[in-house]
Amino acid sequence: TVYPDEHIASLKVAGRIADLIRSKQQMGEKAVLGLATGATPVEVYAELVRLHREECLSFQNVITFNLDEYYPMSPTAAQSYVTFMNENLFDHVDIPKENVHIPDGTLEREQITAYCLDYERKIEALNGLDLQILGIGRTGHIGFNEPGSAPNSGTRLVTLDDLTRRDASRDFGGKENVPTKAITMGIGTIFKAREIILMAWSKKKAPIIKKAVEGEISSDVPATYLQLSDQVEFVLDADAASEL
Ligand code: GLP
Repeated sequence: TVYPDEHIASLKVAGRIADLIRSKQQMGEKAVLGLATGATPVEVYAELVRLHREECLSFQNVITFNLDEYYPMSPTAAQSYVTFMNENLFDHVDIPKENVHIPDGTLEREQITAYCLDYERKIEALNGLDLQILGIGRTGHIGFNEPGSAPNSGTRLVTLDDLTRRDASRDFGGKENVPTKAITMGIGTIFKAREIILMAWSKKKAPIIKKAVEGEISSDVPATYLQLSDQVEFVLDADAASEL
């Protein structure tokens, strides 16, 4: 779906998330959301905060699982995805603290495998994700599933691509300060969501969107795996869609 600009597109996506939360609430159920970080979803979260403040959208029945976190990473660091989520969403809505899950960047190396399995189990115990939202990196990564990621991959420790670290260097004051690793949900984890929305804005994303939507399905561009699923929607602004 192509919208004229990222503002309109973000409002539409936020509206769909709000509808899901409200319909689950009416049924007395939890809404289980997979959330993304980066610049792309910022306006979506801002609109959800507005809906909470002005239109009584409650997050009491919402459970969230974030896609990824840098490793190692202190949750209180300015660049952590914990800080990002708190500043953009969680600090401004009524979500119970225990309902929020973000991969832990402070684990010892030997704890990571068991932790990742447990992350998957927690999602499965809730009967899976109702909706996963995604951005896309210029390497074609979703979450931090870089080129080479297997379609059935689970939550795990990964090594970041050089381009991904270069793109993150502004936040960290230089590429040398960007962690070389991250913990990310796998492609297989993402695929289990009942609905997936990938968002992309701006000309900068146009080449990778063309590859993701029209390119040959390959681990070289992990987002191409999304072509295999019929519960995926690409939500784009006109610039990101300009090479399609
Ligand atoms: C990071 C995140 C991804 C995100 C990507 C794109 O690598 N781990 O989940 O999709 O950046 O970021 P942006 O939205 O800032 O372009």
